[in-house]
Amino acid sequence: MTQTILADTPVAERHPDAQTVTAVTHYTDRLFSFRVERPQSLRFRSGEFVMIGLIGENGKPLLRAYSIASPAWDDELEFYSIKVPDGPLTSRLQNIKVGDDIILKTKPVGTLVLDALIPGKRLFMLSTGTGFAPFASLTRDPETYEKFDQVIVTHTCRDVAELDYSKQLVTSLPDDPLIGEFVGDNLLYYPTTTREPSENQGRITTLIESGKMFEDLGIEGLNPETDRVMLCGSMAFNVDVRTILEANGFEEGANSKPATFVLEKAFVGE
Ligand code: A2P
Repeated sequence: MTQTILADTPVAERHPDAQTVTAVTHYTDRLFSFRVERPQSLRFRSGEFVMIGLIGENGKPLLRAYSIASPAWDDELEFYSIKVPDGPLTSRLQNIKVGDDIILKTKPVGTLVLDALIPGKRLFMLSTGTGFAPFASLTRDPETYEKFDQVIVTHTCRDVAELDYSKQLVTSLPDDPLIGEFVGDNLLYYPTTTREPSENQGRITTLIESGKMFEDLGIEGLNPETDRVMLCGSMAFNVDVRTILEANGFEEGANSKPATFVLEKAFVGE
């Protein structure tokens, strides 16, 4: 005779901020993306970030700021992450599987939002590494194309393989059943590599200053009258691009004071 004793079986309590992982994709040994269920209470603007993580060894959540890579209309949330071998969070986060829980705080914030820019004609989104994440959200949001005639997204990585996520995403957009008609021919993608040969080589700062990026894309150079810029990358990248933009007459904006460019630091290191 078998007997099942339920009453004495300890049941691990689920953390109130837990969300279930629905998909995981690995791109390189340094990069992966994953999707989680979206809590009903979470409202956010495309381009914002939230705190996410895992329960640490001390039983407390170990959280980091992550841009939401999915657009505001999506039923799920997507994130694009680096893997730091000895990073307290990402050394473990890189092992998540479908069905696992992550912790997600439902308080979105950030300045890479359309509301922080004054109206313009062209929107440039400049990114390095995982700094592409907020632009994965904004390039999938119809409002981006309603507000701007042309959207130019650049992504610079060390190697070609590190461009996979942005390349797959951006090239699929014109044919996407939900967003394709908004995107049309209005989205230009400019991927560049700095440590491996590819079609476009060099740091975006150099390619902007030399004018090569504009030549390659067949578009006019930067003009603060018509152009708005969002940037997201490492601290050094943000500082260098800000210097170029300010020298060209652009002014940094914020939610409380929209202007001609906004920036945010990508999730860097641990
Ligand atoms: P580089 O290879 O010349 O350093 P990382 O992987 O270190 O986060 O860098 C991502 C990309 O950002 C690399 O291609 C890197 O180029 C580039 N990068 C780093 N710092 C800057 C900067 N200050 N200005 C422009 N690009 C930068």
